[in-house]
Amino acid sequence: MKLVCRGVAPAWFLVPLLLLVVVFGFREASITQVSDFFFSIRPSGQVRLSKNNVQYPGRTKEDVVVSDETVHKASSSESEKLTIVKLQAEIAKLKSAECMPKTTDPVAEAPQFPASSDEIAGDTAKDVAAPRSKLSCNFTLARMKICAMEGDVRVHGKSATVYVVAASHDSYWPENGTVTIRPYARKLDPVGIKTVREVTIRSSALVVAADDTALPRCTVTHDVPAVVFSTPGGFSKNFFHAMDDTIIPLYNTAHEYDGHVQLLVTDYDRTLIFKLRHYLAALSIYPVIDLDADDAVRCFPLVHVGLERHDELRIDPTLSRKGYTMMDFRDFLRSAYSLKHTWATPANRSSGQRPRLLLLLRRRSRAITNEAEAIATAIEVGFEVVTAGPEKSRDMATFAKVVNSCDVMLGVHGAGLTNFVFLPNNGTVMQIIPWGEMKGIGWHEFGRPLPDMGLRYVDYEVTAEETTLKEVYPKDHAVFTDPNSIHKQGFTLVWEIFLNGQNLTLDIGHFREVMQQTYQSVTIT
Ligand SMILES: *[C@@H]1O[C@H](CO)[C@@H](O)[C@H](O)[C@H]1NC(C)=O
Ligand SMILES: *[C@@H]1O[C@H](CO)[C@@H](O)[C@H](O)[C@H]1NC(C)=O
Ligand SMILES: *[C@@H]1O[C@H](CO)[C@@H](O)[C@H](O)[C@H]1NC(C)=O
Ligand SMILES: *[C@@H]1O[C@H](CO)[C@@H](O)[C@H](O)[C@H]1NC(C)=O
Ligand SMILES: *[C@@H]1O[C@H](CO)[C@@H](O)[C@H](O)[C@H]1NC(C)=O
Repeated sequence: MKLVCRGVAPAWFLVPLLLLVVVFGFREASITQVSDFFFSIRPSGQVRLSKNNVQYPGRTKEDVVVSDETVHKASSSESEKLTIVKLQAEIAKLKSAECMPKTTDPVAEAPQFPASSDEIAGDTAKDVAAPRSKLSCNFTLARMKICAMEGDVRVHGKSATVYVVAASHDSYWPENGTVTIRPYARKLDPVGIKTVREVTIRSSALVVAADDTALPRCTVTHDVPAVVFSTPGGFSKNFFHAMDDTIIPLYNTAHEYDGHVQLLVTDYDRTLIFKLRHYLAALSIYPVIDLDADDAVRCFPLVHVGLERHDELRIDPTLSRKGYTMMDFRDFLRSAYSLKHTWATPANRSSGQRPRLLLLLRRRSRAITNEAEAIATAIEVGFEVVTAGPEKSRDMATFAKVVNSCDVMLGVHGAGLTNFVFLPNNGTVMQIIPWGEMKGIGWHEFGRPLPDMGLRYVDYEVTAEETTLKEVYPKDHAVFTDPNSIHKQGFTLVWEIFLNGQNLTLDIGHFREVMQQTYQSVTIT
């Protein structure tokens, strides 16, 4: 017995090569989840069936889902019969689902996928001439939930709905034909993600008749792909989040279209969109559309919902559909912001050159109380010092140039360090780690991503003598004797005490030593 799924092929011939590459990148992601089973019908005549998701303890189902899948070649064995029965049941369910377009056109009502065992046996399946759309989703990744649709895709912004018209057999088939995504790349943040507007993707199996009213008609037709993403206010103000959750993932998702891509933004944050204007203009030649305010029905040949984020301030080339690296991203940033300084060249001490140090200053927490002394020390050691408070970094285009002009960037753990992305190759990031077992967290966010961009890392861990926490807590308090016990009580306390609750008074002797070492490492004679 052979499972036939004709009708898919014609669609493949209609899409340009570029789009085909995209679709093939997603092919493995097109495992279909229906009830407890994953299945997809493949043009090759295979049925893919897998058991329910394997879950990890202590996480919700959505956090980590690993499909335990097996590919069955269609044959007449008992398990395949079971497969087919399941498929038929699911197909019947889909056919009766509300999302199917109501139409009296008998052709449109004809099943677009095998609906009887005879057809599954390959006896009567008919070729379908009309082009088919394809919906592919991947919810198994730790940090993101993404879908890509290709073919006849219609977006209505005001209702945050994406219609996938006439989805093909090997498409992802969500329950009832709808899937919802909050298109922000931080799905593990249970509170934050709730602030993100939900986008509904409705996929219909049938080709729509010309007079069909069940689906909205296109009022604007675009001939380029679209990328839908959110800029939720709660995250957008923090530059670490802007970079980690939006700027890098957006590059990952949209750069391959070389500017010919429409960006559609939900939870449109005016301030962030303005701040990122040079970057967005480099990614897309079209103005960004505020999706929530848009009443048009926009039709696209391809739509991505959600951005591809791999890891904290990192791109994993093996996960990137285009094999992008952080070096590629950095080069793109340099061209978007016209950054001229590509290499941090060691300064020649004998000819009086000074390496340029950018000192990031914080104001409300994790501030350096003896800032003036620290600056004087860095100058004495031999650096040319440029200081920047939060107000200076607000204009991204100007600040990117300041960062790019420096060889070393120094700052206390915090979002400002995210600006390392603008440093020249072989630049050095110096992170001052506040009190409270913060070395690991600090390294994870601002140390670990550096080698991917050809940057070097130095940390300066403060002692219990260098924190203003000693004015608040006695020496024998757990804050000093067992900071890990604070971590065990959860992030809220870590935030209140170690992140928001201290300023630092640097031990200038200790600081001078570390600065001298760094000076030696970035200079020659
Ligand atoms: C989702 O994407 C990841 C990374 O590209 C891939 O390893 C995984 O197989 C995909 N999952 C599905 C269900 O296709
Ligand atoms: C699918 O439809 C049924 C019946 O209307 C409903 O009970 C169920 O919650 C729906 N499932 C989803 C995922 O929307
Ligand atoms: C550094 O400068 C000194 C004095 O100008 C010069 O003699 C020396 O060759 C320079 N070193 C390098 C590596 O360029
Ligand atoms: C840190 O210093 C700033 C002023 O420099 C002050 O406003 C803030 O309250 C201080 N924070 C702590 C936790 O001491
Ligand atoms: C990077 O910087 C270090 C220290 O200044 C220097 O020894 C090394 O040669 C530099 N690498 C390149 C490729 O310039």
